[in-house]
Amino acid sequence: MKKITKKILCMLLALAMLMTLMSGCTQKKDEQKKTPVSTQQTEPSETDEPTPEEDVVYTIDNIRDYVIGVDEPVELADGTSRPMINFDNAATTPVLLPVLDAVDREMKMYGSVGRGFSPKSNHTTDLYNATRNTVLEFVNADPSIYTCFYVSNTTDGLNKLASALVESEDDLILATRMEHHANDLSWRERCQVIYAEVDDQGRIQYDEIERLLEENEGKVKYVTVTAASNVTGYVTDVHRIAKMAHEHNAQIIVDGAQIVAHRRFSMMGDTPEENIDFLVFSAHKMYSPFGGGAVIGPWETLVQHMPEFYGGGIVKLVRDYDVAYKSAPEVYEAGSPNYPGIVGMAAAMDILNEIGFDRIEEHEKKLNRRLIDGLGKLDNVIIYGDTENIDDRVGVVTFNFSDVNSFVLAARMANNSGVATRRGAFCAHPYVWRMMGISDEEAANFENCVDMNTPGMIRVSFGIYNTEEEVDQFLQILEDTLKEFRETPSLGGSANQEY
Ligand code: ALA
Repeated sequence: MKKITKKILCMLLALAMLMTLMSGCTQKKDEQKKTPVSTQQTEPSETDEPTPEEDVVYTIDNIRDYVIGVDEPVELADGTSRPMINFDNAATTPVLLPVLDAVDREMKMYGSVGRGFSPKSNHTTDLYNATRNTVLEFVNADPSIYTCFYVSNTTDGLNKLASALVESEDDLILATRMEHHANDLSWRERCQVIYAEVDDQGRIQYDEIERLLEENEGKVKYVTVTAASNVTGYVTDVHRIAKMAHEHNAQIIVDGAQIVAHRRFSMMGDTPEENIDFLVFSAHKMYSPFGGGAVIGPWETLVQHMPEFYGGGIVKLVRDYDVAYKSAPEVYEAGSPNYPGIVGMAAAMDILNEIGFDRIEEHEKKLNRRLIDGLGKLDNVIIYGDTENIDDRVGVVTFNFSDVNSFVLAARMANNSGVATRRGAFCAHPYVWRMMGISDEEAANFENCVDMNTPGMIRVSFGIYNTEEEVDQFLQILEDTLKEFRETPSLGGSANQEY
């Protein structure tokens, strides 16, 4: 009897806990959605399923309401809490609520991709494959020319592409000194790379690319270049480079990590010679942090190469000593894929399209201008890149102060004021050293430096949800923090480097 009562009590307790949890979840989700208040009475939906975002049109003005965690307080060094100013979007972006909702919704129908006999497996497989068209459409890639295979992120994609395309260690690749490491080392470690220099402002020198192509006539197989720099935000005229590459019988690869959430990208140029051959990008920099990314390329080229990884899902038939492989794109996707990553990426693409890249570009330029002008008023500031003509810059601004160490400055702003920036050389060391006026020989001294002794810059990188008010708050926090360091040397903020 005692046992039964105990069992019933336990069940009641579990039920109560479940109900509390469920009501908590619902409340939190409702709080975050901030669906615009309607004065009209709405009919209850036929099912109890939430249909949260159907009536919302996402714009640059309301998108902040749909960024998860934007108002979440973070604990500061003094024990108080405040929401973060997140100016580190070039590293990764937060998740958009409609992206999370899309993933959440799809999980109800989740089954194995390409491997099961069930309605859920069929649904999952169909959506997984159909999303390839969403991706191609997003970057205006003609589906009769291009296909896309999914990857985990840009680094994964560039390595997979390099592994497929490079046929010999004597293959010659033309890169630039603006590249971040994924689009440099992926090639450097597999074959020969020559680099086009940047100019004094840090922009790609198109003449240099042309000169190197002529100097190595017929030898350069691929020109690989970033579409936007993660250090200065400069946007590359990739179609101009495509034309140059094609005139010299090379193909062009574009690292799209920093462009796809910022500017409309088109694989197609004004003429076929200006078309981009390959594009690689990540979803986590476009508001879908579930992994996922894509490599887009001409089907005819991809089918001529083989992948880096082997396993299930990429074969037609395996016998004791023989394998018949599938074609592109499947052959590049061994193993069970990251389905939530693909669903999230497609949802993010829809939202970015809905907001409109014209509006995104306009918004970023406004934030860039406000920040650069504000920084320019501060003593001893060094702002990297062109601060006058900023039209060819996405929302990325890097700077230093000649008398204050950038590491301790960024750390203090993070710890004391909840400001997220990135400080360092941003996985683009050769470019950062150039911008800071550090020679290759001098850079050799930094190999074993740690933290504050390694030269670096502070980077602000904007997302669609950042505001001008945040820029103003940031500038005030920066000014106050600089003052603290300058007035109190014992805080250890003096610059210990001449860069
Ligand atoms: N994800 C790296 C960045 O923060 C490259 O720019």
